[in-house]
Amino acid sequence: MAFFSMISILLGFVISSFIFIFFFKKLLSFSRKNMSEVSTLPSVPVVPGFPVIGNLLQLKEKKPHKTFTRWSEIYGPIYSIKMGSSSLIVLNSTETAKEAMVTRFSSISTRKLSNALTVLTCDKSMVATSDYDDFHKLVKRCLLNGLLGANAQKRKRHYRDALIENVSSKLHAHARDHPQEPVNFRAIFEHELFGVALKQAFGKDVESIYVKELGVTLSKDEIFKVLVHDMMEGAIDVDWRDFFPYLKWIPNKSFEARIQQKHKRRLAVMNALIQDRLKQNGSESDDDCYLNFLMSEAKTLTKEQIAILVWETIIETADTTLVTTEWAIYELAKHPSVQDRLCKEIQNVCGGEKFKEEQLSQVPYLNGVFHETLRKYSPAPLVPIRYAHEDTQIGGYHVPAGSEVHRVISHFEVHLQSLVSKS
Ligand code: HEM
Repeated sequence: MAFFSMISILLGFVISSFIFIFFFKKLLSFSRKNMSEVSTLPSVPVVPGFPVIGNLLQLKEKKPHKTFTRWSEIYGPIYSIKMGSSSLIVLNSTETAKEAMVTRFSSISTRKLSNALTVLTCDKSMVATSDYDDFHKLVKRCLLNGLLGANAQKRKRHYRDALIENVSSKLHAHARDHPQEPVNFRAIFEHELFGVALKQAFGKDVESIYVKELGVTLSKDEIFKVLVHDMMEGAIDVDWRDFFPYLKWIPNKSFEARIQQKHKRRLAVMNALIQDRLKQNGSESDDDCYLNFLMSEAKTLTKEQIAILVWETIIETADTTLVTTEWAIYELAKHPSVQDRLCKEIQNVCGGEKFKEEQLSQVPYLNGVFHETLRKYSPAPLVPIRYAHEDTQIGGYHVPAGSEVHRVISHFEVHLQSLVSKS
């Protein structure tokens, strides 16, 4: 009996080994076939540059996305450039961007950050710059449930109502008291919008804060400078070692000092605001803020990660919306007929009453003005670079592992889409 069961175990083992080897070989030949399909594809068109520095000298313009757009008219919606020793694949159309971000997502799901961004994001501790991993899933869920999702937005409605009320009463006061003087829209809107960002983050607006680590009291304008203005400036600071990683052993002291100073001041101010908020928990202040949400929902996060994630909502709210609104007002001022049509549309909907969020669906022209502004003056024309960690393809071209993939929200698309929307 024991002999027969021994034989049947051996037979079972031999047969299952054959089956395993058969399927393993099939799998191997299938993936080899796929890989060879990818590598027989043509290489991405190359923008000619110089030896060693590549295309660096051709990208001296302050707005590199404009150069990228010009090149797309010559080399097409996907092309490759050399930034020193790194190869960068630039995507200039909705189709190639969609293919990279959706269809080929599994091969391009990590980020490549510049030296400045690595420090300023505390090594990818933000939703917008993290790799698409478990950390990203956790913090994105928190952001949606705690701030950006429909329910959270309903709870924060009174912040936005107060913003509209305050901006319009300041504009009316200016028109009444200084009818001949131009109005500084940015000063008014920036102050109020930053107030909304602080309320979302900490449950209250802040007029000043004592920052123990710096030994100073900062006004709201100074807090804005440290948390928003200086960080935007830092994000585009260039470290030449980004382009020549093999020279990273050479110190770049002035760059490092600048970035570290900005990063430390930002953390010091965030810590002061967080401590101030925590002292008030349980008192009469609004406890429904993003800081409290993160602290109760994401207990695995470190203190520094929480500070960066709360700061992320401040910078994303205070900068993008400010810049977009400013450009919209600029375009409206230049086109009085568009302004008149917009005024009429709004008056038809709300008459002499104040405009309400619920009425947004009844003002398609306002929606058009907003989208046209975003297309023409995208506040985020270049998004953080992604990294292909395995061979893949985009737009019918071979994209080798190790390529850096850059998405441009290009003016080429803008012009095309503008023509479509005008017609
Ligand atoms: C006019 C306003 C805004 C514009 C034009 C804008 C633009 C963008 C763009 C282009 C991206 C894509 C980045 C990428 O693909 O890598 C992005 C991502 C993101 N934005 Fe905004 N944004 C705006 C407002 C906001 C606001 C108010 C928040 C609030 C906190 C926010 C939070 C985020 C986050 C968290 C991501 C990353 C999403 C992810 O990777 O899953 N944005 N934004």
